[in-house]
Amino acid sequence: MTGGSASRPLVEGTTWMRIGRRYLAPLLVRQMPGEVPFGFLGRVLPVHADVELRLEAHRLPHARALELVHGARAVAEAELSAGGAGSATPELEAERSNAETLGREVAQRQQELWRVGVCFTANGSSRPRVEAERLRLAERLSEFGFRTRVPRYEVRDALAACGLSGGEARPAGYWQVLSTDGLAAFFPFVDETVLEPAGILVGLSLANASPVFLDRWSHASHSWGIFGTTGAGKSFASALTILRTRWMRPETELVVIDPLGEYTRFVRALGGEVVRLADGDRGRLNPLDPVTTGGDRREKAARVGTMLRALFPSLKDEESAILDASISRLYERDGTTPTFDALADEVARRDPGRLPSLLEVFRSGSLRALNGPTTVRIEASTVSVDLTGVPDDQLPFHLTYVLDWAYGRLRSRPGPTLVVLDEAHLLARQEGTAEFLDRLVRHMRHFGAGLLLATQNPDDFLARASGRSLLRNLYATAFLRLPEVSAETRAFFGLGGAEAEWLPKARLPRESGYSESLWRVGEWHLPLAIVASTPEFEFLTSTLGGSAPAEG
Ligand SMILES: Nc1ncnc2c1ncn2[C@@H]1O[C@H](COP(=O)(O)OP(=O)(O)OP(=O)(O)O)[C@@H](O)[C@H]1O
Ligand SMILES: [Mg+2]
Repeated sequence: MTGGSASRPLVEGTTWMRIGRRYLAPLLVRQMPGEVPFGFLGRVLPVHADVELRLEAHRLPHARALELVHGARAVAEAELSAGGAGSATPELEAERSNAETLGREVAQRQQELWRVGVCFTANGSSRPRVEAERLRLAERLSEFGFRTRVPRYEVRDALAACGLSGGEARPAGYWQVLSTDGLAAFFPFVDETVLEPAGILVGLSLANASPVFLDRWSHASHSWGIFGTTGAGKSFASALTILRTRWMRPETELVVIDPLGEYTRFVRALGGEVVRLADGDRGRLNPLDPVTTGGDRREKAARVGTMLRALFPSLKDEESAILDASISRLYERDGTTPTFDALADEVARRDPGRLPSLLEVFRSGSLRALNGPTTVRIEASTVSVDLTGVPDDQLPFHLTYVLDWAYGRLRSRPGPTLVVLDEAHLLARQEGTAEFLDRLVRHMRHFGAGLLLATQNPDDFLARASGRSLLRNLYATAFLRLPEVSAETRAFFGLGGAEAEWLPKARLPRESGYSESLWRVGEWHLPLAIVASTPEFEFLTSTLGGSAPAEG
């Protein structure tokens, strides 16, 4: 399904195209039938015929859908009341009543309308063959009430690859407007593996290729985890999940926390904003601003303690105690927004020793840009924080306050939000940050948000009680290839012996063009191929990856 074809010679005829030695003859639909029998596609595309169907579907916004169904009903009514239809009256009646039913269903959101690109293609090794194949295809379609058309001088446009937005030039007869039921009639799946029909496609069963859908929003926890060795496809699967989530629910907000800057171009291509911490050109995030806890200063003081311990892991117990006392005092004082200057003064009052010199980093050292009030303002519904350029040993600190900031954002903008945290192991090593992440995951669902956590090894989290609690709060867990499956991982996730032996052999995308994975969802264990469609693949491979240029 994925991957572009190498450049083979391409010849375009009036009504066909030749790529290498294969001839392709597209066939478009001039008029759809009112109804099709269940399973009609199997008869239109029998296995012995070298024909295929390509579908692309784009959901119409609700308001536009309502407008269309009301328009269709008004036309049928006008024609009926004009009375000139004669023998066509029963059909017009049926049309009016169908439009009425559909209008009601669309208004109640039981159905939606889709702009669907439909292109049948006959394949063959010679021109006469492919044309004969197309003729038979047109005959079979007409038995089901389809009226078809052969594109002339427009073959290239008919067959051009699909983009994600459906903005390509297409011949007449390519686009159809279908209801959800109408679109569903085109799907050949009869298997019931589809777990949660309102969800997104997460993969195809490795046993029988049937699609599996999961709906994060219909469960108490909206959070998922993805684990796998380097190159197993975690970042790709995360971005694919983002695309499909927004496709199903365009109103979903997105916050990507991106230690390696892999999502920067991707997020910009989605129309989002990127904050590159190391540049500071979007302004300052004051890690001490209590707005993130909704003004709960005690809770904020605890989080500040956590982030500073992530920055200074070598603190001795007594230093830690002085720091905590200084932070508490800072937040008890009055209603002002603390800065690192004020914190450094508090600390200096208590400690003649090492702490003041450690905090000097916020006054004259590499973190001085954080000393002052927050000036970053992001209204966009899609945002990523790119941490490239931040020194490795400071990553856990930056990740902690960025997560705290993200939490504040969820609180002030409740509603479906997907928070993506890649390289999450950076927060698993220390008790404080692991505990913070665990609490965050438990609380974010109250704001309608879910975390998508990606990291290499589940063992990083299994080593601590807070990590285990976090893992327990993930509704779905996907394992891509793991170099080895530890006894702890096996026991915690209830993996069978065969599963544990298979995971180190699961195929990598660079070997097979997709990721093999094992999904653990509630009681289910599902071996799935994570497969992108061609437009998804092209979009993802052209936008994902490090070293994004600064915005120009
Ligand atoms: N499902 C897939 N289908 C096709 N190609 C994929 C798929 N998943 C990943 N790839 C490709 O495989 C490569 C590695 O994927 P990715 O960067 O997502 O791995 P990763 O698990 O995030 O690795 P790391 O731990 O190093 O971050 C990328 O070039 C990506 O485009
Ligand atoms: Mg990655």
